[in-house]
This record gives sequence, structure tokens and C-alpha cells, in this order.
Amino acid sequence: MKYPKEYLQEIKTRLKISTVVSKTVSLKKRGKEYVGLSPFKTEKTPSFTVNDEKEFYHCFSTAEHGNIFDFVMKTQNFKFGESVKYLANLAGMRPYTFSKEDEIREEKWNKYKLIYARYVEFYHNDLLKNPLAKEAKAYLKNRSLTIDEVKKFKIGYVSNDQNFKEDIFREFNESEIKETGLFYFDENKKKYVERFRNRVIFPINNISGEPIALGGRILKNNKYLAKYINSPETSFFKKGYNLYNLDFTRKLSNNINNIFLVEGYMDVVGLSKNKVDNVVANLGTSLTTRQILTLNQFFQHIIICFDGDESGYKAALRAAENSIIELKPEKEISFLFLPDKHDPDSFVNEKGKDFFEDFSESNSVPIHKFIFTHYSKDIDDNPSSRAIFEKKLRGIALTIKDEFIRKYVLEYFLEKVSKLTPNTNFKYKKNYFKPTKLLKSTQNYYNETKSLRAIDIKEFSFLYILLKKPELIKDNLNLIENVKLFSNENKLLFEEIVNQTNNFENTDIQSLKIDKSLIDRVLKYASIKHILVKNFKNDQKILEILSELIRDLKNYELELRITDLESRFSKDLSEATFNELKELKKLQKTN
Ligand code: UTP
Ligand code: MN
Repeated sequence: MKYPKEYLQEIKTRLKISTVVSKTVSLKKRGKEYVGLSPFKTEKTPSFTVNDEKEFYHCFSTAEHGNIFDFVMKTQNFKFGESVKYLANLAGMRPYTFSKEDEIREEKWNKYKLIYARYVEFYHNDLLKNPLAKEAKAYLKNRSLTIDEVKKFKIGYVSNDQNFKEDIFREFNESEIKETGLFYFDENKKKYVERFRNRVIFPINNISGEPIALGGRILKNNKYLAKYINSPETSFFKKGYNLYNLDFTRKLSNNINNIFLVEGYMDVVGLSKNKVDNVVANLGTSLTTRQILTLNQFFQHIIICFDGDESGYKAALRAAENSIIELKPEKEISFLFLPDKHDPDSFVNEKGKDFFEDFSESNSVPIHKFIFTHYSKDIDDNPSSRAIFEKKLRGIALTIKDEFIRKYVLEYFLEKVSKLTPNTNFKYKKNYFKPTKLLKSTQNYYNETKSLRAIDIKEFSFLYILLKKPELIKDNLNLIENVKLFSNENKLLFEEIVNQTNNFENTDIQSLKIDKSLIDRVLKYASIKHILVKNFKNDQKILEILSELIRDLKNYELELRITDLESRFSKDLSEATFNELKELKKLQKTN
């Protein structure tokens, strides 16, 4: 059984290898690549690299390398099929089951794409070449589009071309054509008609760059007709899953961190014309979490820039409340508000790229600030109004999935609320000061996870074994008793584990009297975990790994002491210091 090539390719297009790898290995950006500690070997210096452009990883210390599927197979001990299932799910795709239905669906899907490709190609060329498309050309020119944008976005115009329609109906059968939504059956005329007739059409591509739907605009605003229409939702096109221009911007994402999210097709085209290429639009519906997750795959910072009118503001607020749920520590979401009456298209056309980018730089508001500012606008100076306000904010903060962000945003809200009530009594105040303090610690903590040192990760691996193999540890307590750790948090956890084990208990994660988040961090970042999973039943091997880790940790302690002595020696030049240094260096060699 073989997966269709396109299915595998789509998984690769939808997922960035660094995003997948960083779920299990902590990566740092270095030039065009990412580096981290190898998941295939315990090591001190990072020798593991990931390259998004080339779509592979390489480990210099073990010579392991491969693509996204290989990585998952090797680190999770999966067979190929399991890795495809796992990654397809991560990419938000349907599982492929090799049933007859799948085969039929695949065939239909290929026909569907073929019809769209033909359709888009035909009306694009028709717009360029057919003299009858004069009116449409004048319209586009009037909106100051040039041939470059028309070509780049494959914009077309749907004239009433009976020959083309007949061709399509000859080549494809009725149900295949109906599926696309490009034609619908007119009961009065008893025939199929073009849904997009007399409209300028904007092809909506899937992430692989294949057209799967259209947006169509009328030439002259008209009371009776919708300004824009989209292809109807079909089994192959769901508005909330797609983003206009994602296929193009996805390719920029190796070099660019920010993405602008706008409302309309014309906003994308207008920005692109002004050389702001990192922009997508959400097809005229409210922003879905699916769309946020997709953008997060590729970009660090989403800047939501809707129209500067009331409906744009309302849409932004809805987008903020929907998307804060998915906010992650390493990601940002901001809002950019334009002057009234402007949309991104008109604004960038009037002011140009540099102004637009500077404006965005200095006026983007982080999502939590936007939400706070919005709701604080209409509180009155009475307890009931304040209570409603605080409840609303707490409610929003509690929807956030990531626990660090949730804590951080909640504390931000509460701190701001406490500043709004400076005259309340002492007791009340005290309650509100607590969060302010917590805020700092969370912030530190959050910074820390961003910049883990090699030694931290080593300590996590050490603790990981202690947590996961309590019985083995109980029998080999002598091995670990004299180990020294460097991070204070890790020390706490280590002491607690040793205490429990000394009481002849097996370590039980649930009953450790320690901040859960410390344990979570160990479980998340320990680079050893894949190796441990593979060798879980092989106690001898685990003891070897443990000893190796302990030796590394001891060496690290020695290294610190040596650096310390060296700097002392450079100042005091005493013989005693020198001898001590010599002893330590000897020790370092024998370890
Ligand atoms: P806008 O009306 O802001 O579009 O709608 P625009 O880009 O500024 O349009 P122009 O400049 O007048 O051509 C934003 C988006 O909302 C959806 C479309 O996706 C549009 O791009 N929309 C708008 C509809 O689906 N139907 C409509 O009738 C209007
Ligand atoms: Mn607009």
C-alpha cells in the first residue's frame, strides 16, 4: 500500500520541519538553520541542525539525517505509516485509510482541482487577451492594478463564453462540475450557468498553490448583488480552513517573522503591489482558530490589520477573543488600527511601503492590551460595573490553552485592574498586590524557557530518569546521592525526589511537594526522553546513560570551578591557587 504522492507532499508543505522538531527538541536559530542538542545521543554541545528551506535535519555527532517523516519515525519509534498518520493529524489533514472511499475521494479531488485549474487559466488568459474584457481591464486599471499583479494573482474575468462552458461539459461529467460550485443549475432557464459571470475573479489556492475556490467581485457596486461572492463550501473547500495568499507567503516564512492578516482580497493585492508581500486574508468570515494555528506554524508574529471602520474594529475584537485562546509562549499576536475610512489597500497605496511598515512598527498593540483597553473603555465608577469588567477579563484569560500565557495574561489584567482602584481599603489592596509579584516570577520563568542552557537540558535529562524509573533509582541511590545541580529550581526538585526515595518510597510524580510546572518543564525539555522510551525495559542501558549524564554534570561543576580559579589566579598569582588549579585539571582529565 502506497500513500498518494500528493498526500505526502501536502503534509510536508503544511508543516515546517523546525516546528515539528521543536515539539521535542529545544532549538535555537543560527543563521538560516536551527541548532539543538541531538535527540539521538547525550551531548553537551549542540550538533543537531534543522533546515527549513531544505526540509531536512542532520545530526553531526551520529550522522543521522532525514526529512520530517524520518524524524518522527526515529524519535518516536514509529513505522512509516504511523508517522504519516501522526503528521497528517498535526497538519490538520484527514487520515488516509486506503479504503475504497479514500480512493474515490482522491479521484474526485483530482478532478476538482483539474477543473479549477482549467477554469482559472482560461479566464485569466481571457482577461489578458480578449477584447471583450475591456470593461474589466478598465476597472482594474482604475484601481491602479498593473499587469504584474494581475499575473501574480492570476486574476481573471468571467465573460459569457459558451465555447469554454461546452468544452468543460464535454470533458467532465455533471456531478464533477457541480462539485466545484463554478456552475449552478438555473431552474427557470433549465440549464447550468456561471456563478461568477461578469465578475473579476481571485483564485484562492490551497497551501500547495493549487486553486480550489474563487472570490469574485462585481465591476460596479449594485444594490441587488453582493459585492463579493465566494465559491460555496464543498467537501474540498472550507472557508475557515484557508487563507488567501498563504501558498505564496509560506515560502517567505524561512526569512520573515511577521505576517499581516487583512480582510479583503484587494488588501492583499494592494499591499503586494507596494512590495509588502507577507500578507494573507481570511476570506470574509470571522477568523478561525484553525487559521491562527496555520499561521503559527510558519510565523512568529501575526499582525491583524482590518479596516479602519466600525465593522473592522468589531471584527478585530472578535478575532482577538477567538485567537487569544491559541496564544503560545513563543508566538505573538498584535492588532494594527488604521485611521478611519482607510483599509490596508487604500492606506498603503496612499502612504507607501515604508510609511506602512513604520506605522505598523509603532502602532501595533499586543492582543492582551487591545482586549484590556477595549473593555476598560466603558466601565463606570461603581462596584457593579467594575465587577462585571473584572469577570469579563478573567473569563477571557481563562480560555487561553497555554498555562504560562494564561497565568501571564490573567496577572496582566489583574494588575491593571488594581491600578484602576487605587483608593480602595487596605485589605482589598493586599489581595491585588499579590498578582503583581507573581507577574514578575512568571515573566522570569517565561524568559527562561525561551533560553535554556545546555546544562539545564542536561539536568532535565537527569531528573527525567529519576522521575520515570523510580524503582531503578531506589536500588541505585548511591549513584545519585552526591550529584550537584546548578539551577535552583532543579535542585529543589532533586532534593524532593531524594527525600521521597530515602523514605523508601518510589518517586510518585503526583505526590511530590513541588510546583507542578517545574516537573512539566523537565518532562517537556529533557532531551533524553526518546532514548529512554526506546530502552525503557533495558535497565542496564539506562544506568549507563545515567552515569554518563552524572559524569557530564560533574565535569560541568569542575569547569565552573576551574574558570573561577583561573580568574582568581590571574589576580593573586599565588602558588596555592595554581596548585589547586592543577589538581582540578587533572581530575577533569580522568573523569
Ligand atoms: P471589503 O468590502 O472591505 O472589501 O470586504 P475590499 O477589499 O475593501 O473591497 P473593495 O476594495 O471594495 O474591492 C472585505 C472582504 O469581505 C468579503 C470579501 O472576502 C472581501 O474581500 N466580502 C465583502 C464578501 O464576502 N461579500 C461582500 O459582499 C463583501
Ligand atoms: Mn476593505
